[in-house]
Amino acid sequence: MNIVIMGAGAIGSLFGGLLSKKNNVMLIGRTSHVNAIRKNGLNIEDKTQLNVKIPAQDTINKVTLSPDILILTVKSFDTRSAINQAMQIIDDDTIILSLQNGLDNINIIKKVVHSNQIIAGITTHGAFFSKPGVIRHTGKGKTVLGELNGKKTGRIKHIADLFNEADIETIVSEDIIKEIWIKAIVNSSINPLTTFFQCKNGYLLKNPILEKIVEKVCKESTSIAKANGINLLYQHTIQKTKEVIRNTSENQSSMLQSFKRGKKTEIDSINGKFIDIGRVRTIDTPMNEILIYLVKTMSGQ
Ligand SMILES: NC(=O)c1ccc[n+]([C@@H]2O[C@H](COP(=O)([O-])OP(=O)(O)OC[C@H]3O[C@@H](n4cnc5c(N)ncnc54)[C@H](OP(=O)(O)O)[C@@H]3O)[C@@H](O)[C@H]2O)c1
Repeated sequence: MNIVIMGAGAIGSLFGGLLSKKNNVMLIGRTSHVNAIRKNGLNIEDKTQLNVKIPAQDTINKVTLSPDILILTVKSFDTRSAINQAMQIIDDDTIILSLQNGLDNINIIKKVVHSNQIIAGITTHGAFFSKPGVIRHTGKGKTVLGELNGKKTGRIKHIADLFNEADIETIVSEDIIKEIWIKAIVNSSINPLTTFFQCKNGYLLKNPILEKIVEKVCKESTSIAKANGINLLYQHTIQKTKEVIRNTSENQSSMLQSFKRGKKTEIDSINGKFIDIGRVRTIDTPMNEILIYLVKTMSGQ
């Protein structure tokens, strides 16, 4: 398969590196990363150890490969510009796979690509951009893929097989949209708090007051999801949230990592979306609002 990774940072480079063992993969990333990969190959360290020579470009204009699959791995606030740029190499048969966090990516992609061409995914792998050319695979996780209409099509099974053959443990979901919402609920409850307190995920369950706040945010975000037609129970989402906190107790959330590096966070696509939907459905979202104000104040936004 010809695979283009649009946004080769931490997770895109990890998936691109692994998939390149059996597929033609092209990475599109920033110039410094691309130059380092050309010079020394792509280096993946820690849970995966790999050095691969892999084609990489810093602009879509230079890409000659016609992709069967384009995997979007930019941060959610870059989705619009990335998919617009990618249109240059996409044809009617190209499958677009978003592996991003956040609640707005699919709708943004749908504005420029026919929804039949879009599939979605989530992953619990942890990856960290150490320096240009070098990615740290911090935690092995699982990946879930799905068609937007929930059907277990031949193509989704085939892509899941490709991922599994590349050592990316993957299953197909019949309700990937619900999976994306659950991940957003979990992220809304963990990421801003760890950013404000600059703590590892596990601290949220060591402090009873923080645990209460996690529960309140999770309850609010779950009620917004339910009002938006997602069939969920708070008992399930809070159990999932606490499970993630326990399993990643030593990790720093991606939002905290972005904040520490002086980079923009994905808070608008996570907590911000719960607030937007709350407004439309006339449901108050005080917990998400406070968290967004706190994180934006801290980052000077
Ligand atoms: N890292 C993880 O462990 C992990 C796990 C699960 C899900 N995710 C999700 O996956 C997505 C990506 O996360 P990440 O941690 O991999 O982010 P990241 O390291 O910031 O990677 C995205 C990369 O794409 C680059 N980029 C943005 N627009 C581009 C364009 N038009 N052309 C070429 N390159 C472009 C960015 O460069 P600049 O930074 O210079 O803009 C950055 O290097 C997010 O939605 C995240 O929530 C991440």
